[in-house]
Amino acid sequence: MRTTTLGTHGPQVGVIGLGAMGMSFAYDMTTPRDDVTSVSVVHQALDLGMTLIDTADVYGPYTNEELLGRALAGRRDRVVLATKVGLEAVDPTGGPGGSPLVRTNGRPEHVRASIDASLRRLGTDHVDLYQLHRVDPQVAIEETWGAMAEAVAAGKARHLGLSEVDVEQIRRAHAVHPVTTVQSEFSLWSREVQAEVLPYCERHGIGFLPYSPLGRGFLVGRFTSFDELPRNDMRRRLPRFQQDNLRANLGIAAGVREVADRIGATPAQVALAWLVAQGPHVVPIPGTKTPEYLADNAGAANIRLSPDDLADLDAIPAPVGARYY
Ligand SMILES: NC(=O)c1ccc[n+]([C@@H]2O[C@H](COP(=O)([O-])OP(=O)(O)OC[C@H]3O[C@@H](n4cnc5c(N)ncnc54)[C@H](OP(=O)(O)O)[C@@H]3O)[C@@H](O)[C@H]2O)c1
Repeated sequence: MRTTTLGTHGPQVGVIGLGAMGMSFAYDMTTPRDDVTSVSVVHQALDLGMTLIDTADVYGPYTNEELLGRALAGRRDRVVLATKVGLEAVDPTGGPGGSPLVRTNGRPEHVRASIDASLRRLGTDHVDLYQLHRVDPQVAIEETWGAMAEAVAAGKARHLGLSEVDVEQIRRAHAVHPVTTVQSEFSLWSREVQAEVLPYCERHGIGFLPYSPLGRGFLVGRFTSFDELPRNDMRRRLPRFQQDNLRANLGIAAGVREVADRIGATPAQVALAWLVAQGPHVVPIPGTKTPEYLADNAGAANIRLSPDDLADLDAIPAPVGARYY
């Protein structure tokens, strides 16, 4: 797979990465997980050159890092391993719909304890990218980021990243320690970052990692009605997936499908190629636990969208419904 650099001074990665969250967390939690297949998907990703793999301590909680630890045994040097700190599950089933109840925690002592716990679960002595999952409104970002910089100084993390931040928060963190990446939701139906954050990252040599780049499956046409969403699944709580909104948004998935059919690609490949076309600093991290989808997503690296394709995709209307509850 073609490679690019994460930020000016970051590591080389394949232009498409892999998000591991759904292997343990958030979606379709009623169906028992097939960890053997998930491990094989991680191996397949590395073989295809999708070297950036993204997780977080809160995914599971903890079980997603443990799964990656098992999957990467003997393969650690082939992966650019990214995890996150700053969200903690305070009650495994106390959140909406029996989901984990999660809150921000950016206290320096939490960061210091969390990096060691993540390394233990991941079975490694360092992560390549340590990301702040959410800024804690109760803690100055300089304090949280300073504790994360200590992890770099101690050799426990190579680079630091932020998630879901505005330009001012990037500036403040950068003044303490270089910001290598920013991760935020970005896809054909979540384009808010195009206004300020994405151009700021490009100007300052910061890599950008679009999360939920397939619109949590919606952009590839997985769902045509609310009732098709699995029973215990966080998408059931998202405004855009509510019945009337979802129906109103079907034209967005149809627009992606139209371009895909015209150029002989799949909708997932078109959605990812549109992101890759936003600049060499943009590395989407589509999530899957399914071998066929993984291969499909890797194929996006070979798709070059023409100016007409890009114009048609840019013209897709904004969705109905907020992206988060
Ligand atoms: N920083 C943050 O706050 C944050 C928030 C959310 C996510 N993330 C990261 O971003 C990663 C990706 O986001 P995401 O998983 O939320 O959403 P996504 O990548 O937009 O979509 C994942 C969904 O699409 C399905 N899918 C994947 N490839 C497909 C294909 N080629 N054809 C058909 N369906 C396909 C998956 O199915 P299967 O799972 O059934 O294979 C899953 O249901 C996560 O794994 C996580 O690492 C970060």
